[in-house]
Amino acid sequence: MAKAAPRYVCQKCGAAGSKWSGRCDACGEWNSIVEETPLAQGPAGKSLGQSRGRKLVLSDLSSKEAPPPRTACKIDELDRVLGGGLVPASAVLVGGDPGIGKSTLLLQAAAAFARAGLKVVYISGEEASAQVRLRAQRLNLADAPVKLATETNLRDILTTLDEVKPDLAIIDSIQTMWADNVDSAPGSVSQVRAAAHELTAFAKRRGAAVILVGHVTKEGNLAGPRVVEHMVDTVLYFEGERGHQFRILRSVKNRFGPADEIGVFEMTGGGLAEVSNPSALFLAERGAPAPGAVVFSGIEGTRPVLTEFQALVAPSPHSQPRRSVVGWDGSRLAMILAVLESRCGIPFAGLDVYLNVAGGMRVGEPAADLAVAAALLSAREDAPLPPETVVFGEISLSGALRPVGQTENRLKEAAKLGFSTAILPSGGKARGSKAMKLTQMSDLASFVGEVFGAG
Ligand code: TYD
Ligand code: MG
Repeated sequence: MAKAAPRYVCQKCGAAGSKWSGRCDACGEWNSIVEETPLAQGPAGKSLGQSRGRKLVLSDLSSKEAPPPRTACKIDELDRVLGGGLVPASAVLVGGDPGIGKSTLLLQAAAAFARAGLKVVYISGEEASAQVRLRAQRLNLADAPVKLATETNLRDILTTLDEVKPDLAIIDSIQTMWADNVDSAPGSVSQVRAAAHELTAFAKRRGAAVILVGHVTKEGNLAGPRVVEHMVDTVLYFEGERGHQFRILRSVKNRFGPADEIGVFEMTGGGLAEVSNPSALFLAERGAPAPGAVVFSGIEGTRPVLTEFQALVAPSPHSQPRRSVVGWDGSRLAMILAVLESRCGIPFAGLDVYLNVAGGMRVGEPAADLAVAAALLSAREDAPLPPETVVFGEISLSGALRPVGQTENRLKEAAKLGFSTAILPSGGKARGSKAMKLTQMSDLASFVGEVFGAG
């Protein structure tokens, strides 16, 4: 019988159960289970299939569909991450740590879209209107035709939006929204889910674009269930290291464009400034060739981006040596250390290993394997790589080097920035040129032998 029985929902993973417990069975989190009243109940005792609904109109796959009309805001780094501009009737989620600059970015975006001709409404649930206006003045955006309100009541917001009919509504943030038909506190899973659902429904109903701001937890998940990510069309993360001025807007999901595209910004006194040549920026602090520093020619979305991997290897005073990684995957580092140890006979036991990607960049490509291995070896041997060298390639568990995609683009970007040598796996479609000498190898052991004269 479908009766309004209480539901117990884990606030971390969203798993629901019929009884309370101190620990979530699904994700193992302690003290995360909260009682929630279900939103709405169907007719008691009847499954949906038993009562007759409306017959759907089915169409063919071949029916002609024009590409969605897009509005570009002329902030190129944002337009590209959106897949070429904002699509009507779409919902975008922008996640990021508190204080990273989401409100700043979206206020600038609001002004830019308003200047591009959209009717823009900016609803802040966190800051008073005066505060937002002050920021707009500081950013020199006060004259942009953006409509502003401070509100957290979802019903009032929806009524306003339905009446004003904006082309773009920005909600800052989804965690502060409060739906009065849901019986739990703002920021809880059910509230976040209800607010996201109502606001996406508004976007589809009115053909407006909706941008939701979401806070990210320590572990990097959007606070609230992952279901919000499934509800929206596009998920962007705004990330960066505290203490660095670089900010990266990364699309992790996009129904209207490529995922994994990045936009690079710099936080300045006057707001976020676009960085159109990120390679130059990430390599700007590079000095003379130093042991442990290796330049990696990577691909972020559709763009090649050069970054510097820095490694430090030092004798460990601990019985369990430290493995510390910033900007790359820790388990991937463990794998490369294991391959170096068992396939090339280079032990890292008793040594602390630190790995860092310069400039606060985060690299997710396996193509960086060889650059990481090179940085580790260079640090361990205290020998810098030859100057003006870039490195890329994937390493397999057998120690073989695998060619990676977009080799041409990687080489071209490196040549553009003045690099003259590339170390990469053999095979693939790489072609050297006068400006770019290629050193190709088929396995990690020959890389070690050739570059560090050992192995
Ligand atoms: P904010 O956009 O409020 O972050 P979020 O909405 O993600 O919590 O940005 C907060 C930080 O940005 C704050 O520490 C100050 C800094 N900032 C600048 O450096 N320059 C600026 O022009 C602005 C508006 C903010
Ligand atoms: Mg904010």
